[in-house]
Amino acid sequence: MSVFDHKEFDQHENVAFINDEVTGLRAIIAVHNTALGPSLGGCRMYPYADSAAALTDVLRLAKGMTYKAALANLPQGGGKSVIIADPRADKTPELMRKMGSFVDSLQGQYIVAEDSGIAVQDIKYMAENTAYAGGLSAHFNYLGESADGNPSPATAYGVYVGMAAAVAFRLGKSLADVTVAIQGLGQVGYRLAEHLHAAGAKLIVADTYQPNVDRAITELGAKAVAIADIHKVAAEVFSPCAMGASINSDTIHEIQAVVIAGAANNQLASDDFGEVLLARDILYAPDYVINAAGIIDLYHQSIKSTPEQLKAHIESIGDTLTDIFKRSQAENQATNMIANLLAEAKFKK
Ligand code: NAI
Repeated sequence: MSVFDHKEFDQHENVAFINDEVTGLRAIIAVHNTALGPSLGGCRMYPYADSAAALTDVLRLAKGMTYKAALANLPQGGGKSVIIADPRADKTPELMRKMGSFVDSLQGQYIVAEDSGIAVQDIKYMAENTAYAGGLSAHFNYLGESADGNPSPATAYGVYVGMAAAVAFRLGKSLADVTVAIQGLGQVGYRLAEHLHAAGAKLIVADTYQPNVDRAITELGAKAVAIADIHKVAAEVFSPCAMGASINSDTIHEIQAVVIAGAANNQLASDDFGEVLLARDILYAPDYVINAAGIIDLYHQSIKSTPEQLKAHIESIGDTLTDIFKRSQAENQATNMIANLLAEAKFKK
């Protein structure tokens, strides 16, 4: 399998493979770019169909982290790692410790954190063999309350702030004056709904897990609609907070909202859809910009800053988005493309 000719290869600085017979660890670490600082990114444990699928994932995700860190104004680069195994069946402390040694062998070029399939305890096992593990220190949240390592409250607050900036830019209104359609009421989506409710926004929601919907109806006065309808309801804002690619060739022409602002990663099924949204005068808040508060939180844990510094940094997401919106308008270019250009200007030498 060739790395340099791979379609997802994009000048990654380092792609390292490990095969450990004793623990059964098979993993890949991809370091995309460290121009702004050491690369940071989650470790994903997943039973990939084959190593080619794992390589595709890790190359793509590592690159995404470079862009996210750059536009979050963090002194960090982008990296990611994948363990090719089933988190329910194959996880052992020894395997995680070996992964820690693998991370350590890169001597700080890559800092590992949680991602799907990996829990805090797994990172703790890794940290026995490396100092380059993030998200473990006991810390406070942006309100100064003590918090565990869950990034979702920070992410939800960042999306809320970013959505307010988008609504102000596109409509000249505050969140109290709009209806928001939220797709997915999980760790981030539900907390976002709480912020919006407190701000006076009206909510329309959908989730495949009915108890989340019931709770939003009872606690937040939300109106529920079918999964298939949430993107096309009459609302000023559509907020994808479930899976990726919710803006695709089936949905894009049905969207009635004039602002799209949500937490999900990879909301556009393809980058080209950014142009379609621009042509339809729908303001899209690029996903990796608006959902970056999780890594902002992680960074502030590592430098042991104050809750006020963390909160201010999260709130700067709104300013970054407004800059993107202004340039998009001035140059008549899609917001996702402007975001990429701004990020590249920071990390490309
Ligand atoms: P989660 O798994 O807690 O929540 C997802 C929710 O979406 C669940 O309640 C699920 O039942 C629902 N859902 C699944 N398919 C659906 C569908 N087709 N329609 C409507 N609802 C559906 O995940 P979490 O942590 O809230 O993350 C949400 C999104 O935000 C994901 O795309 C994630 O990658 C992204 N994200 C999360 C961050 C975090 O800090 N948790 C940070 C950055 C991005």
